[in-house]
Amino acid sequence: MKLAPGSSIVILTGAGISAESGLRTFRAADGLWEDHRVEDVATPEAFVRDPQLVQRFYNERRQQLKNVQPNAAHHALARLEREWPGDVLVVTQNVDDLHDRAGSRNLIHMHGELLKARCLVCGHVCSWSDDILAESACPSCARIGRLRPHIVWFGEMPLELDRIGDALERCHLFAAIGTSGNVYPAAGFVSMVAPGTHTLELNLDASMVSSVFTKCRQGRATELVPAWVEELLK
Ligand code: OAD
Repeated sequence: MKLAPGSSIVILTGAGISAESGLRTFRAADGLWEDHRVEDVATPEAFVRDPQLVQRFYNERRQQLKNVQPNAAHHALARLEREWPGDVLVVTQNVDDLHDRAGSRNLIHMHGELLKARCLVCGHVCSWSDDILAESACPSCARIGRLRPHIVWFGEMPLELDRIGDALERCHLFAAIGTSGNVYPAAGFVSMVAPGTHTLELNLDASMVSSVFTKCRQGRATELVPAWVEELLK
């Protein structure tokens, strides 16, 4: 497939792109995410029921970021954004900061970010790199103990959907990398592009929505993504 210079590219990424950096994906065979059921830690109801458990879980995930690095797939997407003669937008479902650290700048974290906290009182969103504790104060309104992780939990609205929808309608190539196609609206993005748009899935195995893509390649992200970027930039 040859794309004209100036064509715009939208790339959706999921947990599979960070797997080879050492971060577990969500839908491992045991149905648990880092030893927790998703509904025990990633829902607003869980936060009401047991805020300490939820905060501890995300504090651990935030700490874990200090021990992982972006991999060749993250770096390849940052290179594509730098060198492609057109728009490249990365929309990630991942709450880690590995795309940011690799150098992606036109980046949307549609499911939020581990390195941000949100105040339940005033709604202020701020950078947060340490644990969120019962005594943590909001830097804006100073209320104590009312910060939550800036993460989109199940049942909550993903972020920046208007901007994502506009980019999908205008793009010439849509690629999905390392995502199982289980969670909407992200799993439906491939169906939101204009008729005739190239669509490509790069994943370890077939996803729930593979049949909707015009092309699928199976393998590890650290191999598939750099090779694909190389082809595009040739
Ligand atoms: P999943 O865990 O559902 O899927 C990860 C996908 O990556 C699977 O299809 C794997 O086969 C694939 N994979 C694993 N290792 C890979 C590798 N080295 N190279 C390429 N692919 C690999 O994760 P997501 O699809 O990202 O939402 O999950 C979507 C959302 O569900 C998450 O953002 C999260 C979760 O619940 C929220 O927290 C709101």
